[in-house]
Amino acid sequence: MSTSQPGILLPIPQHARHLTFLLEPGASPRRTLSELSRLADGERTVVGIGESLALALGRNIEGLRAFPAHSGGGLDIPSTPSGLWIWVRGQDRGEIFHRSRLIAGALTPAFRLELALDAFQHNRGRDLTGYEDGTENPRGAKARKAALVQPPSRLAGSSFVAVQQWEHQFDRFDAMSPRQRDDAIGRRRSSNEEIAGAPPSAHVKRTAQENFEPAAFVVRRSMPWADGMRAGLVFVSFGSSLDKFEAQLRRMVGGDDGITDALFKFTRPVTGAYFWCPAMRRGRLDLAPLGL
Ligand code: HEM
Repeated sequence: MSTSQPGILLPIPQHARHLTFLLEPGASPRRTLSELSRLADGERTVVGIGESLALALGRNIEGLRAFPAHSGGGLDIPSTPSGLWIWVRGQDRGEIFHRSRLIAGALTPAFRLELALDAFQHNRGRDLTGYEDGTENPRGAKARKAALVQPPSRLAGSSFVAVQQWEHQFDRFDAMSPRQRDDAIGRRRSSNEEIAGAPPSAHVKRTAQENFEPAAFVVRRSMPWADGMRAGLVFVSFGSSLDKFEAQLRRMVGGDDGITDALFKFTRPVTGAYFWCPAMRRGRLDLAPLGL
């Protein structure tokens, strides 16, 4: 029986590291991916496959595609595809660092490390702006349904993930009044209470999952990142399909009604990529849909 990679549905860890890899030109990834399926337990090490890697293996994973870049209305949403995404999760940064080295070593020479980005939990699940993140995530059976491909699909138990590194402009955020900040999110920072009369540009009004047709429930597992004096959020959204994330993002950039999300007043994405996270079978990644 197929199950999901457990790290997808577990709460966010204390620390994490996002690794992305590119397939070296002409390299054959088959043996390396089999080795990775042995190393990755799906819980402390969650793996996502990019479209380019699936195509290099001659396979089309239905629903997996390239992240759509967007330009317009003064907003640039970059698309920065990668072959492989590995979400290294844990409690100890040192242990995560050493596990990353082990993984990167096992993937060499077929793959080249492109980015290593450390993320962490802040104040029990808050964004660095101080707002609680993840409140409206579905739980239990609803989370499984939102995040995982359902039977009878041959991909049942797998998931599609959108990963974006957002960089906050804290001077802009600091210049906003507490009221403007709460209105930008649509929730009160002090109590996390939803503001019924928030403007339509409020982030939670833009993304209200039940307000899409069909409803767009996803499981978000975002965590803050900081590197020197740059910082922001690594946004991670798992879904049974990428359509749900895409519908939310479209509304954020004003694609439906011309109203852009007030989040853009103080933060911008600097990366954006989609991956397919295989299911697990007998404790290992099930790479059968890739012909492995
Ligand atoms: C820097 C970027 C972002 C920040 C700081 C941020 C922060 C937040 C916060 C504070 C909430 C309210 C609490 C909660 O329900 O989690 C929220 C809700 C939500 N966000 Fe974001 N978010 C960001 C980007 C995005 C993006 C890119 C998407 C999808 C395209 C998204 C989708 C959602 C959804 C679906 C909800 C729940 C809405 C609901 O059903 O009430 N967020 N976000």
